[in-house]
Amino acid sequence: MTERLTPDEIGRAVELLRAGELVAFGTETVYGLGADACDGAAVAAIYAAKGRPSFNPLICHFADAETAFRYVKANKLAEKLAAKFWPGPLTLVLPRAETCPVSQLAGAGLPTLAVRVPAQPAALRLLAAFGGPVAAPSANRSGRISPTSAAHVLAELGGRIAAVLDSGACTVGVESTVLDLSGETPVLLRPGGVTLEALQAEIGPVAHAAGDAAAPASPGMLASHYAPGLPVRLNATEAAADEALLAFGPPLPGARLCFQLSATQNLNEAAARLFEGLHELDARAPALGLKRIAAQPIPAAGLGLAINDRLARAAAPR
Ligand code: TXA
Ligand code: MG
Repeated sequence: MTERLTPDEIGRAVELLRAGELVAFGTETVYGLGADACDGAAVAAIYAAKGRPSFNPLICHFADAETAFRYVKANKLAEKLAAKFWPGPLTLVLPRAETCPVSQLAGAGLPTLAVRVPAQPAALRLLAAFGGPVAAPSANRSGRISPTSAAHVLAELGGRIAAVLDSGACTVGVESTVLDLSGETPVLLRPGGVTLEALQAEIGPVAHAAGDAAAPASPGMLASHYAPGLPVRLNATEAAADEALLAFGPPLPGARLCFQLSATQNLNEAAARLFEGLHELDARAPALGLKRIAAQPIPAAGLGLAINDRLARAAAPR
């Protein structure tokens, strides 16, 4: 049985983490599947529960930048970005500190570590009470849609994890932006909740990760990811009879099942509703005999970059 905890039950969540158990918790981006990052067995349990390939490293979550920077070698850029965007949906990849106690498995054996401070009040209280790094990938089975509610987590992982801390729906809805600051120049590894434009306004040019689906720059950038059960077709300008529609703005005529990301074409709203939409279409389409999801085009600016990245992965051949 997976315990469903309220934000008043942080103490219980901390007790479970200390005991090496898995506790899912809401962040502003998506729900994370948390474990004590310094406990190798607990981290291994994350990979097992998710069915995740062990080469894919995890993000360590902290209550504040000061604590995070005890575990990595921060630099000027990192300090500047942390001051501007933390707490918030930005993950920084930095060299591990000399005596970093985080389990090698959490970092998949890499010399770097990904750190972030989430902007979610209950998560911050949990992290402060726990005191150390909490490793947390998105709380979904590997390759599946990221969860943006406790109900999504329970549907995917109920019975396989000790508890889920229910802090309601995630406000951002796409994962954090992952920025590699371990080299000469900053490299964007994954577009996410903090836009590229906002990053560049702060630190100037940011390189895009080179690499393709076969040899991803970031181990997590596998092409087929965030996959709903149904195939996804991108940039749809008409809906076929056997397609459910993921709409952005005025829906295409003819679709018998439609999930509206944002009627007003607001990218923030669309990001927050993206995974919920994929979950819902996936769940409801089969009963109607629908075989695919058609997604309407979404502009590739601001949060649209992250939304299109996730949709392209959902649409990638598997
Ligand atoms: O918004 C988020 O980031 C959510 C919430 C729970 O915080 N977490 C999340 O974790 O999306 P996950 O495991 O689904 O994605 C982490 C990404 C992966 O693409 C992984 O490869 C990359 O971060 N990553 C982690 N550590 C890295 C490292 N040392 N070097 C390069 N990439 C790294
Ligand atoms: Mg994920």
